[in-house]
Amino acid sequence: MKLCVLMGSPRREGNTAALLAPFLDECGQMGVETHTIWLYGQGIGPCLGCMACQNCLDGLGCVQEDGFEAVFQEMAASDVILLATPIYAFFCSAPMKALLDRVIYASVKNYGRERGPKLLEGRRVASLVTCGYPPEKGAGPWEEALKLLCRYGGMEYMGMFCRRDRGGEVPFLDEDRERGVRDFAQAIRMAIVAEELA
Ligand SMILES: Cc1cc2nc3c(=O)[nH]c(=O)nc-3n(C[C@H](O)[C@H](O)[C@H](O)COP(=O)(O)O)c2cc1C
Repeated sequence: MKLCVLMGSPRREGNTAALLAPFLDECGQMGVETHTIWLYGQGIGPCLGCMACQNCLDGLGCVQEDGFEAVFQEMAASDVILLATPIYAFFCSAPMKALLDRVIYASVKNYGRERGPKLLEGRRVASLVTCGYPPEKGAGPWEEALKLLCRYGGMEYMGMFCRRDRGGEVPFLDEDRERGVRDFAQAIRMAIVAEELA
């Protein structure tokens, strides 16, 4: 099993990174191959809405030559894509939004002269999130959008693990949260094993 992490936090020592570390450690212990891409610094520009991708049925067809294609290839080569992000203004951070806009257009050919394949069909998507509000309020809109994106892209949504940032004076990662995120990694692995056996 191969899992690619798209990391949308700019803070290498931040809350999202703190939650991601035990998740990755747990994956390692289960023999899951992981690859983490920090999206800040990848130079992925926003979608230009030119629609050129819609008439390219055998590839991405994006006119922008930047970091997008390399990240997309990692996603396509993975069984599970983990979107790790802090919530900014009720959604994911800006580099992740830029990536998702381009992924969902370039990989789903619904608006060209003829319909084409969904290039990420069958991939599983999960999300690891930190936010300031209680999770339901802070991360609810993000999770709803993610479910819709998965359905549109022919991907399977596997769930979200979200914990609240209660302010700098409280350590973000405690024993309970660490156990929780390790359980989340195990649940993803078990769901895939079960699917493979079915
Ligand atoms: C620019 C900015 C916007 C934010 N917007 C929200 C928000 O809309 N809702 C929320 O619950 N938390 C919001 N937060 C809080 C962060 O999501 C939270 O502190 C998170 O744990 C930061 O993760 P990081 O340490 O990985 O950067 C915002 C933080 C920043 C810096």
